Amino acid sequence: MSSKPQKHLYEEIVYVLRGNGTTTVWNEGQKPLTFEWKRGSMFSPPINTWHQHFNGSGAEPVRYVALTNAPAVFNMFHSHEFIMDNPFRFKERFDGDTEFFSGKGTSRPGLVWESNFIPDIVNLNLHEFSVKGPGLRQVEMELSSNTLSSHLNDSPVGVYKKAHRHGPGAYIIVLGGRGYTLMWREGQKWQRFDWGAGSMMSPPNRWFHQHFNLGRENIRQLALKGWGQKFPIGGWEQMFKSTETGGDMIEFEDEDPAIREMYVEELKKEGLELKNLPVTYRKHA
Ligand SMILES: [Fe+2]
Repeated sequence: MSSKPQKHLYEEIVYVLRGNGTTTVWNEGQKPLTFEWKRGSMFSPPINTWHQHFNGSGAEPVRYVALTNAPAVFNMFHSHEFIMDNPFRFKERFDGDTEFFSGKGTSRPGLVWESNFIPDIVNLNLHEFSVKGPGLRQVEMELSSNTLSSHLNDSPVGVYKKAHRHGPGAYIIVLGGRGYTLMWREGQKWQRFDWGAGSMMSPPNRWFHQHFNLGRENIRQLALKGWGQKFPIGGWEQMFKSTETGGDMIEFEDEDPAIREMYVEELKKEGLELKNLPVTYRKHA
């Protein structure tokens, strides 16, 4: 089975959850390119290129999750025809390069892996990212010259991350491990959300969110999000800068001590110990 060919004036990032198959991408009048994907693959048909997906199995369904900026584009133009049947070709994004979906890529500053097709994100090289929590490793993925982007991170057993906040449009998919997330709007009490492999969550606009590992394996979270570093829309530095210096990340020293106390209790129930370094509170002592 296959999807119908389509092209559209919005970006799309596809992550394959299950199954395998191929996708064919082409511009009118150019030779089509076909590449194979499987569970764990990530790719992005460049904006306004024709593309068609094919299930590689006669028996097993394919399941994928995709982030698009279609709502914003439809809100802006109010024209199905303009968005879904537009002849404009973005040559600087894709011009029929036969190596486009080869899976090659380039490492860039900011923990970035820039590519157009990632055969299996499990094989990506993660970089030390302890600014957000001890032992945290992360890679940012920029595909097909999009403004949308994604990241994958890995956080150890017995560890929780710092809280931070940002705009709407980040969708977190738990690929492995289990735990919980606290989310709250400034000045309000937090809400707790428990999750495991396969869960998905999206922190509301400007709500603080903070992730806690409660399992015996590292947690792996994939985030599909409406902003990246190649075409920044602002606020990137803010997300990892202390709230005490005007940023949007709460350092462990500045958080409500009840957050850590609760995590220690929860770990105890699991027979686990806290691995975060001891903290001296600045405001709440
Ligand atoms: Fe976040």
